[in-house]
Amino acid sequence: MTTPPDPSQVGPLTSADRIVAELTASRDRSLALLDPLDEAELTRQVSPLMSPLVWDLAHIGNYEELWLLRAVGGIEPLRPEIDCLYDAFEQPRAIRPTLPVLGPADTRAYLAGVRSRALDVLERTALDGAPLVRDGFVFGMVVQHEHMHDETMLATLQLRGGPRTLPPDQPLPSGRAVPPHDDVLIAGGSSVQGTSTDPWALDNERPAHRVELPSFRLDRVPVTNALFARFLDAGGYAEPRHWTGRGWAHLQESGRVAPMTWKSDAAGGWTCTRFGETEAVEPDAPVSHVCWYEADAYARWAGRRLPTEAEWEKACGWDPVAQRLRRYPWGEDDPTPERANLGQRATRPAPVGAYPAGASAYGVEQMIGDVWEWTSSGFDAWPGTRAFPYREYSEVFYGGDYRVLRGGSWATHPTAVRTTFRNWDLPVRRQIFSGFRTAVDV
Ligand code: AVJ
Ligand code: FE
Repeated sequence: MTTPPDPSQVGPLTSADRIVAELTASRDRSLALLDPLDEAELTRQVSPLMSPLVWDLAHIGNYEELWLLRAVGGIEPLRPEIDCLYDAFEQPRAIRPTLPVLGPADTRAYLAGVRSRALDVLERTALDGAPLVRDGFVFGMVVQHEHMHDETMLATLQLRGGPRTLPPDQPLPSGRAVPPHDDVLIAGGSSVQGTSTDPWALDNERPAHRVELPSFRLDRVPVTNALFARFLDAGGYAEPRHWTGRGWAHLQESGRVAPMTWKSDAAGGWTCTRFGETEAVEPDAPVSHVCWYEADAYARWAGRRLPTEAEWEKACGWDPVAQRLRRYPWGEDDPTPERANLGQRATRPAPVGAYPAGASAYGVEQMIGDVWEWTSSGFDAWPGTRAFPYREYSEVFYGGDYRVLRGGSWATHPTAVRTTFRNWDLPVRRQIFSGFRTAVDV
């Protein structure tokens, strides 16, 4: 397999050449993920939490058709009868396997037909017009949507187990010893969160606004497997006082005794399974596949707490000297393999301390990539935000029972994450590549 050109080398996000490169990269990624799987694998449902993989793929194409062909290009529906099948709101995940969806071959043909028309639309669209197309926003939205579903498909493959279908991991940088809860002071004061200028920021990241935070300390690196194992070995899952009421109730109901992929071995240690392959838990890697309740209970056991979303964003991106919010912890330059573990180069988080070059202005590391980080915050609207271009991306989720996750994981594409990017999920969920770090008041 040849390595496709790196879109970040092509030009700014707002250029048509870059948009073509980004569209191509996300499609190459989606097709490569599913290429090794046969018809039965593509159409079965691995878990009621997930869609059949072929549903995700056709949904990716349908979203591109809705936004690029119809909304921008004014093109009539290619297959009007399929729209309702791929509407995530009309069709809850659990019933998706019962739908008369397109088979894998039809799905691939549908995607190709949509894509060739989308490239025509791009060619005849001025990127300085209406807000939908200005700076390529809607093209960026479609690219990011595809990458989000690619990450969802990776979560499906993780739940599926083996045999592994993904290419071998590329090497990750080595870590360094970081003392438990080595933390960094984030001095109190006023900072900015959100953005009004990032061309591809989605609606829930907008607008930029001031926040006022008291001083706090934040872990320099995410909580490791070794630290999390101490909580397990200390009987943390048997001790209700570490858990919220709902967290404890869920623990009893679900019978969870460890992170999703862990099993105890005969020697009293822990193994974990990654895409069907079992290995010893890596002590120095960030813990992953924990739900919000588990992250919160660990933090309380450790005498600490989860950071709020505002604290997380400040520690990630605020530059207290320049008094501005950086697009990434290290500045404005695009992510590289030296700065962050993104883009599925390896199917695992890197050990802590592996990315000193990715440190934030405050010296916090691995904020971007490795594992999504749970925050204590619910998913709420930023003051002055506006649903754009549709309510169902963010607005219908505000104020629900969701918790915000930040920073992306090893499975997140570089184009689909930045300081201001917001993800959210229910507090029980842990099929996602989720970990956390902790904070403490000063
Ligand atoms: C932003 C990851 C919570 O996958 O549920 C996908 C993104 N929106 N299709 C999800 C999304 C429409 C969403 N998350
Ligand atoms: Fe979607």
